[in-house]
Amino acid sequence: MDRLDLLETIYTTRSIRRFLPDPVPDEIVARLIEAATRAPNGRNAQPWHFIAIRDSHQRLAVGEVYRRAWDEYSPPSRLAAITDPRERRRVAGAFHLGATMGTEPPLLIVVCGPGGTSSFEMRTTAATIYPAVQNLLLAARAYGLAGCLTTVHLPREAELRPILGLPDEVATYAIVPIGRTTERFGPLRRRPVGEVTFAERWGQPLPGTG
Ligand SMILES: Cc1cc2nc3c(=O)[nH]c(=O)nc-3n(C[C@H](O)[C@H](O)[C@H](O)COP(=O)(O)O)c2cc1C
Repeated sequence: MDRLDLLETIYTTRSIRRFLPDPVPDEIVARLIEAATRAPNGRNAQPWHFIAIRDSHQRLAVGEVYRRAWDEYSPPSRLAAITDPRERRRVAGAFHLGATMGTEPPLLIVVCGPGGTSSFEMRTTAATIYPAVQNLLLAARAYGLAGCLTTVHLPREAELRPILGLPDEVATYAIVPIGRTTERFGPLRRRPVGEVTFAERWGQPLPGTG
């Protein structure tokens, strides 16, 4: 397969929440996780673990927890209230994933790391885990696979523990559904650089960013 240019990969990797059933071969799963582990991480401690869930019963059990968490986070009235068609499409996709996490994507990767207590610990650990997730998503894109970083399950993490057999000291950071899709990759909707960038100090525009 021809490899995508790095910038094209970055610019066209968006959250995709609808999947085809084709299984992701284990060699590719290993490659995606290898890419994830190339991310920067505090003290090179590499405190991550990845649980690749391909088994349909296990996916269903994990997806059920996600569905309950999603239903609590986002009642259907939320979707009905959105009038902007693009925003509606995005949120409809999120609702779709809420209902199908356990049945549609052929692969779920649960990304794990150490639990933290202080806000400092939690931020530095998250700053280590999430770059790995982004590497994983970019690698998936390069292999023609779609995915989505999700965290909505977190309030119900306790229900995942027995399903995944998680040791007490391990926390979950994301559930990433991965698979082939018929959805379109990129472009993404983002605020322009000039709106989010300052030069030298807060409030001063960076020349050339409009
Ligand atoms: C920390 C974080 C948590 C997220 N959690 C969820 C989630 O639980 N469910 C979901 O469908 N999308 C989730 N997303 C995806 C965002 O909704 C998505 O990145 C955002 O809407 C921008 O869309 P795009 O990635 O397609 O450009 C999450 C993204 C991040 C960074």
